[in-house]
Amino acid sequence: MVKISPSVLASDLSNLASEVAEIEKAGAEMVHLDVMDGVFVPNMSFGMPVIECLRKKSGMFFDVHLMIVKPENYAKRFIDAGADLVTFHYEASENPAKLLDEIHAAGAKAAISIKPATKAEEIFHLIPRCDMVLVMTVEPGYGGQKFMPDMLEKVSKIRAEANRLGQDLDIQVDGGINPETAKLAVAAGANVLVAGSSVFNASDRRAAVDALR
Ligand code: DX5
Ligand code: ZN
Repeated sequence: MVKISPSVLASDLSNLASEVAEIEKAGAEMVHLDVMDGVFVPNMSFGMPVIECLRKKSGMFFDVHLMIVKPENYAKRFIDAGADLVTFHYEASENPAKLLDEIHAAGAKAAISIKPATKAEEIFHLIPRCDMVLVMTVEPGYGGQKFMPDMLEKVSKIRAEANRLGQDLDIQVDGGINPETAKLAVAAGANVLVAGSSVFNASDRRAAVDALR
């Protein structure tokens, strides 16, 4: 089953709770929360305090995408703030295996993400420790960018490796996902679709979520 995770980066952040309620009503399985530190990526967004406040207003599954350096210093605090799933970047972590285990020990699901320049094979050894792998389909940092079709091969390679291991792995794609690129990503083996602008720029969010599915 394909799961839809709208990214609130493209939403009206001054009305975050009602924006999230709306995508829940539209049938999205989870909400994607992009955390940017201005160091790992050349942009800033929001951090734990916003997620903690939102947690009080929403029972949705919180899919937290950390685009930060030193994720080991903050993962636990994002879980305390309400993250159900913590995704951190392979490129930013000193000991990804250890961090995946720490996230699980703190009671959340754990995922690793790779930037466009990172090869799929580099994270094969981590797959057994992951609930999900996020293959970035744009350079992380900004919403509204163009989908990179070259990333599809990495999705296929990771799906093949998970199948070889007999693991029911979630594979997420993030960046430039719209109904056309969603089709390509799912055909390559992805089953969790992040979409910012294609959902939040639509006046009818239910129609936008349905179109992706
Ligand atoms: C980009 C973020 C994405 C972003 C996606 O660094 O990780 O989650 O919000 O936005 P769209 O769907 O507009 O490409
Ligand atoms: Zn993201």
